[in-house]
Amino acid sequence: MSSTLLSDPFGRDINYLRLSVTDRCNLRCTYCMAEDMTFLPKQQILSLEELRDMATAFVNLGVRKIRLTGGEPLIRRDILKLVDALASLSGLDELTMTTNGVMLPSMAQPLKDAGMSRVNISIDSLKPERFKQLTRVGNLSEVVAGIHAAAAVGFDRVKLNAVILAGFNDDEVLDLARFAVDQGMDISFIEEMPLGEISSHQRVNTQVTSQHIREQLEAEFSLVDSTETTGGPSRYVQVANSASKIGFISPMSNNFCESCNRVRLTAEGRLLLCLGNEHSADLREIIRGYPGDIARLQAAILKAIESKPERHYFDPEQVDIVRFMNMTGG
Ligand code: 5AD
Ligand code: SF4
Repeated sequence: MSSTLLSDPFGRDINYLRLSVTDRCNLRCTYCMAEDMTFLPKQQILSLEELRDMATAFVNLGVRKIRLTGGEPLIRRDILKLVDALASLSGLDELTMTTNGVMLPSMAQPLKDAGMSRVNISIDSLKPERFKQLTRVGNLSEVVAGIHAAAAVGFDRVKLNAVILAGFNDDEVLDLARFAVDQGMDISFIEEMPLGEISSHQRVNTQVTSQHIREQLEAEFSLVDSTETTGGPSRYVQVANSASKIGFISPMSNNFCESCNRVRLTAEGRLLLCLGNEHSADLREIIRGYPGDIARLQAAILKAIESKPERHYFDPEQVDIVRFMNMTGG
């Protein structure tokens, strides 16, 4: 039986919302942002109350999992208040966050206390120089400290994310996997998507398939296929004799859109129905026109879901989607 009221025209139940709380970030990863980014003016960003009302509408419609994203969600002022408000929504099973980890040394404990269930931390290199180059401004040691802090406060699971780019960090797949396995953490390897026009590299030259990454890993680890899925373009394997799982997120090489269970809400309140398509609905207009009217929001969401595309088509040679990942919600 369907557990959600949000069912799209292709029979998929939508029970997962990725909620972006800011387009800003304290890093500038080359594959995510251009060097000079213009960020949204504050008044265009949803307020804390608006974010809470949006989340409430989705949970009323059957969403069971919310992931807070950005930009970098931890640089949003009052993020803890939001976490606290969302964690107490009845019907929500899981509240998670994707973060670059920089602020976790001070934020991990308060996040846990406010009701965050789990965090995913992005780390694309374990070499300090290279990490700096990939993020333009980041310090690896801060992120590693953030990862340790997350482990220490006892989140359900800590998962690492690495985007693998040929010629940049494809020689670190084994090191990254070892780093995760040694700490009993999970790690997902992500194929780079052509979101936004970037200048640092030609994406067509940096593509690495999940299959290729898996072959590198199999030189050292015994990988056992798992049926686990979070919906969407990821597949997981268990690392034999360890507590760790490895995920392969393959938006380019493999299309798992038929099991997609998610939508995204941008920081400015645009409901994105698919990562790889421009189909969207402006929910900010509604919440600002009719503040506090959750029923009206729900009606708009139900209507928008009718236009969720069947699948995405990415072409690394072409930037079909002009918005950057920080505008999309990682
Ligand atoms: N392709 C794939 N992943 C991306 N991310 C950001 N931009 C891209 C892209 N173009 C990832 C980050 C992080 C998450 C928020 O999204 O590395 O793991
Ligand atoms: Fe920030 Fe994440 Fe984008 Fe890097 S990938 S610039 S950490 S939002």
